[in-house]
Amino acid sequence: MRCVLLDQLFEPVVLGGQTLPNRFVLPPLTRSRAQADGVPTPLMAEYYGQRAGAGLIISEGTVVSPQGSAYAQVPGLYTEAQVEAWRPIVSAAGSKGAVVYAQLWHVGRQAHSCVQPDGCPPWGPSPIAISGWEYRSPDGPVPFEVPRELSHEGIAEIVAQFAAAARNAVAAGFDGVELHAANGYLFDQFFNSSSNTRTDQYGGSIENRLRFLYEVIEAVSESVPANRIGVRISPSSDWMDVSDPDKRSLYSALVRGINERGLAYLHLVEPGIAGAVDAPTSDDVLQSAELSQLFDGPVIVTGGHTPQTAASAVGSGTADLVGFGRLFIANPDLPRRIRNGADLTGLREEGLYAGGPAGYTDYPELQSAN
Ligand code: PHB
Repeated sequence: MRCVLLDQLFEPVVLGGQTLPNRFVLPPLTRSRAQADGVPTPLMAEYYGQRAGAGLIISEGTVVSPQGSAYAQVPGLYTEAQVEAWRPIVSAAGSKGAVVYAQLWHVGRQAHSCVQPDGCPPWGPSPIAISGWEYRSPDGPVPFEVPRELSHEGIAEIVAQFAAAARNAVAAGFDGVELHAANGYLFDQFFNSSSNTRTDQYGGSIENRLRFLYEVIEAVSESVPANRIGVRISPSSDWMDVSDPDKRSLYSALVRGINERGLAYLHLVEPGIAGAVDAPTSDDVLQSAELSQLFDGPVIVTGGHTPQTAASAVGSGTADLVGFGRLFIANPDLPRRIRNGADLTGLREEGLYAGGPAGYTDYPELQSAN
């Protein structure tokens, strides 16, 4: 028997003018099943189709250029072949009424010369290497490199790559796009002063450090209306060495800035998550409730939620939708299981990143069809 409180997870909600059947979000999850050239594979259509009972499906991080990718087998949206291959996947994801967004991604200094097309170090706002973490190279962990500092032309080129990828997302059938501005990737490298020591209009003041994001939003909104653009941030995380003495002022300004722009949603990674894993939190963490108050549109929270904590996040007004990453990997029909009060399958480490169907499309659905 399910608890009455969980009912609110099954209420429809409007996002970007579209009505979602429920509050469950399949959040962006790197699974590395694309080809080495970033072309998605038919297996991905099966995977997303299995999870089509979500209200909102956000694709795994999808890179806007080869320079923006840290790992092979991550899909892209910068070639015609990639657009073509995404179409059946988007269609499978939306087959039960879910709204489907593409997450657009540039990893910045989290890449490595071994995957850069020119064999040189990756790009970042400033020539500061990530310290305290290692790059997962095919030969094992290696230190991150000092990135090449982006010039104004380089920044403009990346802004244009986001705009082109957004156009491609629309051509592939996506309903909208999410900008991956979390987890120490390129946007987050611009936001935080530990990775951005620029003295031009992209560094220094908070407004300057947010400029790159705003330029991308403006460029993307030429092909995707602002109310179909979401932004994902991780305000409490210093994962991959992004720190700032005043994260509260930084991310409050960011949330106010995107609120003014009338975006589709704000997607918050919960405190207690570092990249893809759990992490200890400190007493002064920025709680999602604090930032969600600053945003008038729909808010998604993701990270470590159970059905009960999700229902209380929705019930308390902190969030409108809740992402379930690890639970959705292991339970393709997660909303139906929760509605029926069914047991949930546990996550296996096997096949989390890369491989074939094992650990990807072989998690069972509930047998009884009620
Ligand atoms: C990961 O591959 O572990 C990963 C990718 C994207 C994220 C976080 C973690 O935002």
